[in-house]
Amino acid sequence: MDSSIRVLPDALVGRIAAGEVVERPASVIKELVENSLDAGAAHIEVSLDGEPQQFMQVADDGKGISAEELTLAVQRHATSKIQESDDLTQIHTLGFRGEGLAAIGAVARLRLSSRPLDSEMGASVFVEDGRIGAVEPIARAHGTTVEIRDLFFSTPARRRYLKSQTAEVRAISQLLQAYALGNPGVGFSLMQRSKQAFHFPAAPDLASRAAQILGAKRLDRMFPVEIEEADLALEGFLGAPEDSRARSGHQIFLVNGRWVTSPLLRQVVRQAYSDLIPPGRHPEALLSLRLPPEDVDVNVHPTKKEIRLRRERELYPRLTELLRRRVEGHFPSFQLSGQPEESLPDVLEEGRPESQTSLPLYPTSPKAEAEGWVSDQSSVVLPFPKTETKDSAEPTLANLWQLHETYICARVKQGLLIIDQHAAHERVLYEQALKRLQGDPPLSQELLFPLVVELTPDEFAVLLDSLSLLEKVGFHLETFGGTSVLVHAIPAGVREWKHGALLKDILDHISDLPSEMENHERVARSVACHGAVKAGQTLGNVEMNELVDQLFATEKPQGDPHGRPVFLRIELNELHRRFGRSS
Ligand SMILES: Nc1ncnc2c1ncn2[C@@H]1O[C@H](COP(=O)(O)OP(=O)(O)OP(=O)(O)O)[C@@H](O)[C@H]1O
Ligand SMILES: [Mg+2]
Repeated sequence: MDSSIRVLPDALVGRIAAGEVVERPASVIKELVENSLDAGAAHIEVSLDGEPQQFMQVADDGKGISAEELTLAVQRHATSKIQESDDLTQIHTLGFRGEGLAAIGAVARLRLSSRPLDSEMGASVFVEDGRIGAVEPIARAHGTTVEIRDLFFSTPARRRYLKSQTAEVRAISQLLQAYALGNPGVGFSLMQRSKQAFHFPAAPDLASRAAQILGAKRLDRMFPVEIEEADLALEGFLGAPEDSRARSGHQIFLVNGRWVTSPLLRQVVRQAYSDLIPPGRHPEALLSLRLPPEDVDVNVHPTKKEIRLRRERELYPRLTELLRRRVEGHFPSFQLSGQPEESLPDVLEEGRPESQTSLPLYPTSPKAEAEGWVSDQSSVVLPFPKTETKDSAEPTLANLWQLHETYICARVKQGLLIIDQHAAHERVLYEQALKRLQGDPPLSQELLFPLVVELTPDEFAVLLDSLSLLEKVGFHLETFGGTSVLVHAIPAGVREWKHGALLKDILDHISDLPSEMENHERVARSVACHGAVKAGQTLGNVEMNELVDQLFATEKPQGDPHGRPVFLRIELNELHRRFGRSS
């Protein structure tokens, strides 16, 4: 083979360049829809007919292209959107390279037909394999239509990499929905084999558009974000922590109306939820960020899907903090109906098993109760300390019931709340422990008979290491010769002492947690995890009420310290829908 260097023919150069812009049918639609939006279209209609690579069409009612400029429009590096190099730093349009139509024309059969607003007649031009045909006059309405047939007919290798028809159509539909969210004022429709797959009429704002696309039900479960500052605006919706997903595909990010993949925004959102969701899961998010055009560099990737934000270092912490405040400020105001216990449905009351503990849940003497005094029985289940706000003489109990000795169910205004009793108690104990470690006075339950617990040398070493922290959270401990320890008191609120096994479990847990984790975090987590009520333990109505009260008095009731959800909400609307009732 002759290896001398030569300049490649234009058609081949065009095809190579096109390869970067047009990866699949959805990339064609992206180029065409962006052109329609730049042309100020009020409505954009995309039509498919079977396999998208065989036929796709995008029609708009935008400003159109004059007959004289049609040929120019399909040539490489021909654009009406920028003129000089400086314009690249101030891009106000979605397109700017003058490459979209030429790239598609290099790898497909393309017909561009248009009629500008001020013209009596329309015109059309055909491009095949990069060759531009003659411009012909046609009669048509104002606006532009681009028809694409036989995508990749001249590059069979590309064709082989196409996914199934369903996958390609899904990608197109997803893309249109994202652009529709980025441009609520523009109507969008998708036709498939002459049937309407969807139609989103022009909407006044993002919230109305989001309701058209996501549906009111899904949007109801999300909470709105609206931040307006001098140099940025952030608008959209974030999902409840309990609705987090395993894949980040449920996040849509728009920057200046452009649909982008933004690792930065993905990170910002993830950070904002911190430990409200478990590692490896992603909150649902729809965020539209508006920044001054000079702060967004779109010219970093041929498909313009990736962007660079010029003030990234400043924006990252700022956006994270703004969203974090928004996420934390979103606490569900569950109104547990304060109905008396008699109103529990009979069937639930009858089916309730007897409490597993034979001891009274609350100490009998008022003095003992005040001191948080408990008996030292290995099987005893300790009470939840009463919350101070509660009038203990006449408590108003909410209508709660326990499911499988694991979940607490509550009727709330809009439906049903299901709380994981262990996770809820873990959250409560965790926050209490952290507060005490940060300076709140320790709160203990004295053991009736102080107990000597024999530890292994390893456990004893951990104990000595964390002794002062354990005392702060409420343990009262005394070394007792060798590797034994005398326990006088345990933290208030801890449910089961298990005849000393609790302390050993806590010490094991502390040493299992990663050493990078701060000591007080490790102690708080361990105490919370082992001190919390377990699944399988029966709770009475008073106890359930105390726990639920305490849970919703915590700072982050949604997640346990590991980020697992603490409660789920089932909306009444959802139940109505599943039972085929119109709500
Ligand atoms: N639907 C349309 N309505 C009106 N004008 C259009 C339309 N589509 C394309 N044009 C005109 O054709 C030109 C070329 O379009 P093309 O998509 O190739 O490049 P571009 O949009 O300028 O830049 P980019 O390559 O970044 O998309 C545009 O600059 C615009 O003037
Ligand atoms: Mg374009």
